[in-house]
This record gives sequence, structure tokens and C-alpha cells, in this order.
Amino acid sequence: MHPGPDALSPTAHVWLVTGCSSGLGRMLVPAILARGDKVIATARRLSDLDYIQGLEGAKALQLDLTDSDEIHREKANEAIRAFGQVDVVVNNAGYVHSGVWEEVSHEDTLRQFDTNFFGALKVTRSLLPHMRSRKSGVVLYMSSIAGWVGVGAGGPYSSSKFALEGAVECLQKETSHLGIRTHLLVLGQFRTGILSTEKTVGQLRPSTIEDYDIVKQELADRHAATNGLQPGKPEAAVERILDIVREENLTGAQRGNLPLRIPIGSDAVEVMKRKCVETLQVLEDWGEFASSTDYAGKQATSLKYGQS
Ligand SMILES: NC(=O)c1ccc[n+]([C@@H]2O[C@H](COP(=O)([O-])OP(=O)(O)OC[C@H]3O[C@@H](n4cnc5c(N)ncnc54)[C@H](OP(=O)(O)O)[C@@H]3O)[C@@H](O)[C@H]2O)c1
Repeated sequence: MHPGPDALSPTAHVWLVTGCSSGLGRMLVPAILARGDKVIATARRLSDLDYIQGLEGAKALQLDLTDSDEIHREKANEAIRAFGQVDVVVNNAGYVHSGVWEEVSHEDTLRQFDTNFFGALKVTRSLLPHMRSRKSGVVLYMSSIAGWVGVGAGGPYSSSKFALEGAVECLQKETSHLGIRTHLLVLGQFRTGILSTEKTVGQLRPSTIEDYDIVKQELADRHAATNGLQPGKPEAAVERILDIVREENLTGAQRGNLPLRIPIGSDAVEVMKRKCVETLQVLEDWGEFASSTDYAGKQATSLKYGQS
């Protein structure tokens, strides 16, 4: 009997990707299929996934990250039923909210976190039981250079990505012994529509608090100058993501030893390096001062914070 389009070869992975209406999520869909894997593409509106009709091995699933845990569980079950398993989750959906502390409302900050942070937590929580029971899975998160370095008026977006960095680091330590692989993809700037005026939300225009006009203008100018001219080619980023998951096109040293954080984009490499160098310099300059707070004759403990 000829296997149907939903039949899985033993080496094929089933992916679930959030935010497939545009950008990196949308580009991932054909790239995943091209390597022989299957994909469940999700979007807030099913009509945004019309492009997958007729693509063998791809299925559409409506999913709004801000939905309740209960709905996320139902959607996860629907996703598992689509091909019988989910091997890879790409927590991709997200957007940029900009503005200064004093002007961004609590509700707007919550909305930003609801998608970029809590949404990724909910998707992961809904699929972890499945991955635990199978003792396998790969979970990816779209982090950002904005999750490494903050810029003025970039607080809502940056803090949502910084939060993701911390939470995912903990998740990795909770689940790596269960056969679940977790990665934070620290993306540089890629040429999608993410910085277009239709996509970004927030308040960067001058307003009643003139003191902040210069800070907001700087970010608005930076967005305008970057939009459409980002150094990163999204099609290439998508291929690197496939390489990471499928452990293909990697060196021998990289294969089987993939770190939690993986930079994607030359600017990501540069930003992460700069942050590390700056941090090392602070430790060099302030290490003695900081260490002056220990008890005299302190007990040496073998339990170092954060080390396994
Ligand atoms: N491009 C870059 O330079 C860059 C750099 C660093 C990190 N990233 C991260 O990479 C990811 C993808 O970004 P992109 O560049 O591909 O941007 P994009 O083209 O704007 O795509 C973002 C996707 O997220 C979806 N989304 C937003 N809110 C959602 C919600 N509540 N529920 C479900 N889906 C929602 C959007 O759907 P709608 O069409 O319904 O809005 C869209 O499909 C994001 O997490 C972003 O933060 C991108």
C-alpha cells in the first residue's frame, strides 16, 4: 500500500510553528517540508494560512497565543492528532511594542507579555506532557538581541524577551534529563515586516512629557532606518533553524553538543560578545568590592548557583 501524505518516515519530525501568517514563521513552513518533515502551521486567523492548501505534509491550526490554558490544551491535542505526534515546537509568534516607562500603560505591557512571554509558556506547557511521555522533543524560542541589550523606549519588547531568556534557561534544566532539547535562538535583525509601521505598536511620537521626546525619536528613527534594510536574510535564518533541529550541516563539535543559546545573525554574535566583554569588565573592576560581603571564614559549598 502506498503511504498517504500524513504517513511519517522514521526520521521525519513533526513541527508545530506559531505565528505562520508572515515573516519567519511563514518562511519556515515550505523549508520544513523541503527537508522531508511535516508541519502544523498556526495563526490567529485561519484565512492567513490559505497558502498551505495543497502543500503536502502541512496542516493549518487556528491559535491565538493569548487564549486560555484550557484552549491551549485543546489545540495541543488537535495538533498531536494531526500526524500522531509533535516533535518540534517553534515559539515564534511575537510583536514589538515600544514606548517609555512613564507612558506605556500596565495593560499594554501585559498585552506585550501575553503574546511574547506568557504565550510561549502556554504553548510549551500544553505540549510538555506529550514530549515527556515520549522522552523526546525539541522546543525553540525566538529570543532577540533585544533580550540581551535594552534600548531607550524599547522596554516592553525587550523585557518580554529578557523574561523569556530566564524562564527558558530554567525549563532547560527541568527537562533536559527527560530527552527534551531546548534552545533560545538569539536573533539579530532580519528583514521581515516586524518593524513596519503597520506591525509595531506603542507610543514613539512626541507627547505631553517632552523630556522623553529625544529618546522616543531616537528609537523611531532607528526603526525607520532599519526597516527593510536589516542585515539578516530571513530565508537563511530559517535554514539555520532547520540545521539546529535536524542537526544537519553542523561541524562534528557542534553536533550533539548544542548550547541553550544559539545566536543567529552576525549582529547577534557581535551584540552577545559586546555584552559578555562589558560584563567581564564590570566583574574585573568590581569583583573585590562585591566579594567583601561574604562571612569571614565562610563554609565552602559545592552547590554553586546555576551550575549543574
Ligand atoms: N525579524 C527580526 O529581526 C527579529 C529579531 C529578533 C527576534 N524576532 C522574533 O522572531 C519572531 C518572528 O518575527 P518576524 O520577524 O517573523 O515578525 P512578523 O512577520 O511580524 O511575524 C510575527 C508573527 O507573530 C504573530 N502574532 C503576533 N501576535 C500573536 C498572537 N497573540 N497570537 C498568535 N500569533 C501572533 C503574527 O500574526 P498576525 O499576522 O496575526 O499579527 C505573525 O504571524 C518574533 O517572536 C520576533 O520577536 C524577530
